[in-house]
Amino acid sequence: MPSPTATVNGQVLSLSGVDLHTTVLDWLRSRGLLGCKEGCAEGECGACSVLVARPGISSPTRWTALNACLLPVLTLDGQELITAEGLGAPDALHPVQREMAVRGGSQCGYCTPGFVCSMAAEFYRPDRVPAEPSETGPAPSDHLHGPNGFDLHALSGNLCRCTGYRPIRDAAFALGAPADDDRIATRRDQPPPPVPGTRVAGGGARFARPAALTEALNLIAEHPGALLVAGSTDWGVDVNLRAARAAFVVAIDRLPELRTFRVDSDAVEIGAALTLSEAEELLDGHVPLLDQLFPQFASRLIRNGATMGGNLGTGSPIGDTAPALLALDASLILASANGEREVLLADYFTGYRRSVRLPGELIRAVRIPLPQPGLVGFSKVAKRRFDDISSVAVAFGLDVEDGVVRRARIGLGGVAATPLRARATEDALTGRPWTAETVRAAADVMAAEGTPLDDHRASARYRSAMLRQALLKFHAQHETPLEVGA
Ligand SMILES: Cc1cc2nc3c(=O)[nH]c(=O)nc-3n(C[C@H](O)[C@H](O)[C@H](O)COP(=O)(O)OP(=O)(O)OC[C@H]3O[C@@H](n4cnc5c(N)ncnc54)[C@H](O)[C@@H]3O)c2cc1C
Ligand code: FES
Ligand code: FES
Repeated sequence: MPSPTATVNGQVLSLSGVDLHTTVLDWLRSRGLLGCKEGCAEGECGACSVLVARPGISSPTRWTALNACLLPVLTLDGQELITAEGLGAPDALHPVQREMAVRGGSQCGYCTPGFVCSMAAEFYRPDRVPAEPSETGPAPSDHLHGPNGFDLHALSGNLCRCTGYRPIRDAAFALGAPADDDRIATRRDQPPPPVPGTRVAGGGARFARPAALTEALNLIAEHPGALLVAGSTDWGVDVNLRAARAAFVVAIDRLPELRTFRVDSDAVEIGAALTLSEAEELLDGHVPLLDQLFPQFASRLIRNGATMGGNLGTGSPIGDTAPALLALDASLILASANGEREVLLADYFTGYRRSVRLPGELIRAVRIPLPQPGLVGFSKVAKRRFDDISSVAVAFGLDVEDGVVRRARIGLGGVAATPLRARATEDALTGRPWTAETVRAAADVMAAEGTPLDDHRASARYRSAMLRQALLKFHAQHETPLEVGA
């Protein structure tokens, strides 16, 4: 097997001898590419943002901004990346760098290379379309969307301590389209770099990127202690902040069988290794509850790496996809060397970070049955609006017909050792009129769901109050119910 390499700013660099736990950030800096900065090492500041060539949906390749501090560099074997140094040079600034400079988007400059990379990813987003000027004036824009089609959520994972965000937004909204001869733009029309099967051993640890699902399943059957890694947005934090180390890592994020997407007459199936950004784009509004969830899940930078398989694979009681998928009655397709089985998500979690998933099994896909509930909502309470884990998350999926609740599914996160269904509240709503009176009584039941704890995110009392509030708010938003959905 050829030795691993990555193409950085057009130059092929060897990854031979690199330790399994070396992040892209540390590796780049060790190669003298010092633009990429460490602000937090936990995915929260974006100072380490880089551009990686990934498969696209509306173009063959998409330049995707990722947190270099979370990614093990070996996962980039055979891949292409661009850092702020590769975008432009002091005497030939990239359009993004130029706008940041002339509009005062940088003071101390620590955050700037990260902003520039996240901004460049949005600059090169293939479906970024400038708004048409209106008959009465310039193209419409709001504080999050520029007249040039720039979506400011692209910068939701980047923090700046000293400039203030206004000049940065001005720079983003002033960008035009890439020039016709822009080599980074034209790269989007070529296929993405193929993903080689990789095996690396060194320093007592091993890394493998199997090329196909069967190979991956055989590997984890032989090595039940192997650690699966998809987007590494959870694992990367453990490595950096908790000094987690694995003897054997198996990368599953590019397995074709885990990147499938299907909409059939009776279900939507989302591959466990599609990133949340990819799932959002592929779903294109097909699952309205997930449409409410996506913008509240971390930042664009994190969603560009994070997968549903990883979110459910952690077994975390505060993962955001679980409450939403519980409200949608979703199930998981679990795959092992012995075949596949389907498990209702409501039966999946068995205790704190425990599940019915057996050693040697992985989550291949998430299945959402159709038709979906007619009335849906996702409510998240977190300390920071974007890029934060939930203190409490609540998802609703109700069918209301002739003013009566026919079916209710409510998923909760952050109020017990596992994500769970609010079964008592569902019972308090089902068969009753969808009125303020019913909802007030059900909200009292809801406040007593789960076994919330006091921790650094919220107190138990606050969590209970938020449960009650979530139902009252959901009702207030949907007092005139829609009929059963399709
Ligand atoms: C700054 C920041 C903000 C965040 N905000 C949120 C948030 O708002 N909401 C939220 O829910 N989470 C949040 N997270 C947590 C994290 O991003 C998510 O849990 C994410 O979905 C993990 O996916 P991943 O592919 O990166 O998982 P990885 O880190 O690759 O893996 C996580 C775990 O899942 C296992 N795993 C991965 N894929 C599979 C699979 N297919 N089958 C079985 N096991 C698997 C791995 O073995 C590992 O144990 C945040 C993280 C950071 C760093
Ligand atoms: S260093 Fe802060 S997100 Fe990577
Ligand atoms: S310019 Fe100083 S942190 Fe952003």
